Parts: sequence; structure tokens; C-alpha cells
Amino acid sequence: MRSDVTDPVNDQLKAELLELALEAAHRAGDFLRDGRPADLGVAATKSSAVDVVTEMDIASEKLITGLIADRRPDDGVIGEEGASVEGTSGVQWVIDPIDGTVNYLYGLPSWAVSIAARKDGETLVGVVHAPLRGETYRAVLGEGAQVNGHPARVRPAPAFGLALVGTGFGYLAERRARQAEVLRRLVPEVRDIRRGGSAAIDLCDVATGRLDAYYERGLNPWDYAAGDLIAREAGALTGGRPGEPLSTELTVAAPPGLFEPLQARLEDLGAWHD
Ligand code: IPD
Repeated sequence: MRSDVTDPVNDQLKAELLELALEAAHRAGDFLRDGRPADLGVAATKSSAVDVVTEMDIASEKLITGLIADRRPDDGVIGEEGASVEGTSGVQWVIDPIDGTVNYLYGLPSWAVSIAARKDGETLVGVVHAPLRGETYRAVLGEGAQVNGHPARVRPAPAFGLALVGTGFGYLAERRARQAEVLRRLVPEVRDIRRGGSAAIDLCDVATGRLDAYYERGLNPWDYAAGDLIAREAGALTGGRPGEPLSTELTVAAPPGLFEPLQARLEDLGAWHD
């Protein structure tokens, strides 16, 4: 999505937010990659016994929020591990200090630091940094998406039956049972399914053509805020139920031509409810 109207004040704000998001994501990513204890364990659980937090999630969030508070003390912040600052500037940061915590806990490489900055409800900047992939994805509203400095672009829409579709599961047993039921009906209709374990990376995989599409019920804003902008700026459509924006109820991302039939099929399958 590109804007033809130039707005120097907004452009300067976006540049400043991008620079800070990149610095915070790299600092946190280096800390998480280099500082992961060999005996890393679970520090606490949240919605269920399998919804875990490690000491590194907490320390990463502190590092990111500390940097933001230092550089832009008037901004609001929400973070997965509890950061919550109202702010007065109108800018709100949406932070997932480790998206893919279970992968991180097990030493699997698909985890990322996800940082978005929103103003007046609109995401202006998104950064997803995946240190063990050696990849940093970024997008600025109206200015396109990049991976490691190169333009990111979705793959052209395939026929529905040839789509490689990513998804994920929530942490509650009942929700998972319903998600598995939706998947049972969908998997014979598409090329195949992938469950990578990081929603932020899944959305970036749509943005770079490594997945044709992605959907999941139950995500939180910190899981999708940055990846949503990156996917859209790379040419994907994103949304929730038909006519609705993406939300915790449902997140769908795919290029035009695949997005519409996938969203319609997910509606038929009731992918938006438990
Ligand atoms: C989770 C991951 C996972 C998705 C879950 C999310 P977290 O985020 O993005 O892929 O399936 O729904 O909660 O807990 O690792 O930050």
C-alpha cells in the first residue's frame, strides 16, 4: 500500500520509530541468542500449563521497554510479559520480546523479537528480528517491506488446492481441539500445512513467499502487529472474519486471489470460534 501524499512530519516520525524499533530488536535479539542459558527452564506459566514464560522473555521485554523509555519517554507501551504504559505522545509500542517462546525454550531456531509502533490505531512501523534465521524483516506504512534490506514480496496466489498454509494453536486445550477440527477439514483441500511456532515469523513468511497463506485464531496484538504490517506492505491482504480487520478472533493473511477464498472457507469452517 503506497501513499502519494507526502507528509514530512509523519515521514520523520516513521523514520525515527523505525530506527528505534530496529535498534531495540537487534539488542534484544543479540541478548537472547548469546545469553540463552543451556539449562533454560520455565519461569512461570500463564493461561495454561503449556503457556510458558522464561526468564529471558522477561529480561528481553525489560531491555526493550527500557530503551524506549529512555529515547521516547512519552510513548505508550504494551508488551506480552505485562509492560503497560499509557503514554501521552499518541505513539504506542506493541512488543513481543520472544514470539515463539516454546521454540526458544527447546532450542528450535524459529523465534523472533517483534516490535511495532502504532499511532491513532494505525501501525506505522513493524520489525520482526529472527536472529537464528539471520533475518530481519521490517515495514513502514506506505513504504513497502524488506528482509535484510531487500524488498519483500508475497508469492503470486496459487490455486486454493496448491496453497501451502501456515497456522498455529492456542494454549488452551478446548481451543486447540476446535482448531484441530478446523484443520482436519482444511488439510485435504490445500497443498499442505505448516506449524512453525511463531506467528510473527509466519506472517513474514507470507511476506517473503515462503508460505502462501497463514491463519490462526486467538493471537494477541503483540503476536501480529509487526508481522501484519510487513505482510500487507509486501502485498498480502490481511483480515479477520469477512469484512473485519484481523484481531484476536481471527487472523488471516494471503495474497489477493487466495485471501478471499481462504477467508470464506475459514468462515464456513467456523475457524473464528472455539
Ligand atoms: C505464540 C506463537 C505461536 C502461536 C501462539 C502464540 P508466544 O506466541 O506465535 O506460533 O501459535 O498462538 O501465542 O507465546 O510464543 O509469544
